[in-house]
Amino acid sequence: MTPDLFGGLEDTTQRVEALAAGAVVLRAFAAADAHALLGALATVTARAPFRHMETPGGFRMSVAMSNCGALGWVSDRRGYRYAARDPDSDEAWPSIPPCLLRLAGDAAVQAGFPGFVPDACLINRYAPGTRLSLHQDRNERDFSAPIVSVSLGIPAVFLFGGLQRGDRSLRIPLFHGDVVVWGGPARLRFHSVLPLKEASHPLTGEYRVNLTLRKAG
Ligand code: SIN
Ligand code: FE2
Repeated sequence: MTPDLFGGLEDTTQRVEALAAGAVVLRAFAAADAHALLGALATVTARAPFRHMETPGGFRMSVAMSNCGALGWVSDRRGYRYAARDPDSDEAWPSIPPCLLRLAGDAAVQAGFPGFVPDACLINRYAPGTRLSLHQDRNERDFSAPIVSVSLGIPAVFLFGGLQRGDRSLRIPLFHGDVVVWGGPARLRFHSVLPLKEASHPLTGEYRVNLTLRKAG
């Protein structure tokens, strides 16, 4: 346990929790690197600012998003896809910061997926009240690489479902520094994020920042 700036206690003990075959939560795995990661991300989002993308159905996504890596996930009236350029600036996305690339590779090893080299990192920023609806990550070209998902800032409840939309979900609270990895038989499991409660974190203020690293191309 480490005292945080508000006098609370943040649990920085690393533990592995199995969720399903091919899926684990690595508790506090990113806690020690969080400060460096957020610093590197500030440089990324200065070049590729957070924005609210439009869904193919014409709705504004409540989660603010940006990307780093050779490919970035984008959504608009034409659909969901990966693009090599930021549609807002027509520039290449900033590259994945080395500390994040290293963390993602190390987390994948811990989860049993050695050799993971992501080429895409979606950066999601959640304010209180925002949510992410049930979906599968399936815009990537090949499903042999896992998904590595890093949680920073205020907590959220992650629902981890099955391979069918209607399957029961596990309800997993995620805290600052937790990393979820799903791959192999779990790679196409449905998942969602419940609406966030109001909270504040010394490193991110009122926000949760989630980084999803993928091999997309
Ligand atoms: C995602 O599925 O893209 C993000 C999951 C999360 O925010 O924990
Ligand atoms: Fe996802």
